[in-house]
Amino acid sequence: MSDTQTLRRFLTRHAQKAPLDPNLIFLLEDIASACRVIGNRLRNAAFEGTHGLAGETNIQGEEQKKLDVIADEAFARICGNSPRLAALVSEEKEEATWLKEPEAGDYLLFYDPLDGSSNIEVNLSVGSIFSICNVAIDSDRDVLKAGRDQVCAGYAIYGPSMMLVLTIGQGVFGFTCEYGTGDFRLTHRDMKIPAETSEFAINASRYRLWDPSIRQYVEECLQGLTGVRGRDFNMRWTASMVADVHRIITRGGVFLYPMDDGNRAQGGKLRLLYEANPMAFLVEQAGGAATTGTKRILDLAPDGHHQRVPVILGSEKEVERLIDYHRMSASQAEIS
Ligand code: AHG
Ligand code: MN
Ligand code: MN
Repeated sequence: MSDTQTLRRFLTRHAQKAPLDPNLIFLLEDIASACRVIGNRLRNAAFEGTHGLAGETNIQGEEQKKLDVIADEAFARICGNSPRLAALVSEEKEEATWLKEPEAGDYLLFYDPLDGSSNIEVNLSVGSIFSICNVAIDSDRDVLKAGRDQVCAGYAIYGPSMMLVLTIGQGVFGFTCEYGTGDFRLTHRDMKIPAETSEFAINASRYRLWDPSIRQYVEECLQGLTGVRGRDFNMRWTASMVADVHRIITRGGVFLYPMDDGNRAQGGKLRLLYEANPMAFLVEQAGGAATTGTKRILDLAPDGHHQRVPVILGSEKEVERLIDYHRMSASQAEIS
């Protein structure tokens, strides 16, 4: 392997080129430690008796698994000591947890501690997603930050190998956790999503609930070589956003969790602050695009911690096509 620098070396080298606050490096190392701990707890869950439900529902009305709670606690415990971390904002907690009086330049950490938790018992890939923003001014307790204000975002994927994939706004870098030492080492440099793809990811069981623009897009993909797209498409759906996005960042593709008749009242399925924003930042940094269908995700102004939004992201050409279909569908609706 040509370059296997550790995460710490990568971050400190990066800091020599473009100043990186040492406190951000500390926080990222804490996040890496939390993910390492979560990875170990997942691997040992069958021995530790931590499979199954915790017996509580979270603020989103979803049943929490024991491992959702364990992962949430690992983030809070390990990252909570970072000197400039002002607040933790977790998918699993109703309110933000303030750790200090916020000062300008402090950090806010948003996270989905365990993503894809329906996949744990079947031993498929799951992940953790995180996003970091700055406190703008002293005493500012506003955590409803737009995605474009993120200074850093990333995810850990707990798969056949454990990886940490992150952006600090200058491309996307992937670090594989080395078995034995536990070090995260740079194995995937400047990851890029090809602009064109023939692979899409959507939960097709929701077909009857979709809007016309999504139906049209998927139907045209399914027609294959002899249809309007003139080529065959492949489909994948992991039901772990981290795994689906990781595949797209690695080899291209488009991911859709649109608003449909089943989730319209909630605004969509995926959460803006913990899922859509960090993944949109990563995907744009890898050369892809991320939209609700009508608006760039990173430009959305959040109206609540647990706000849900439609998500379409991945290879630029397919995302552009989907935006066009949304536009056409909206103008047809206006005419009729
Ligand atoms: P979480 O486990 O954090 O609640 O997130 C699950 C999300 C996301 O990871 C995935 O893309 C989607 O839910 C799967 O939804 P379906 O079960 O509707 O396919
Ligand atoms: Mn999730
Ligand atoms: Mn989750």
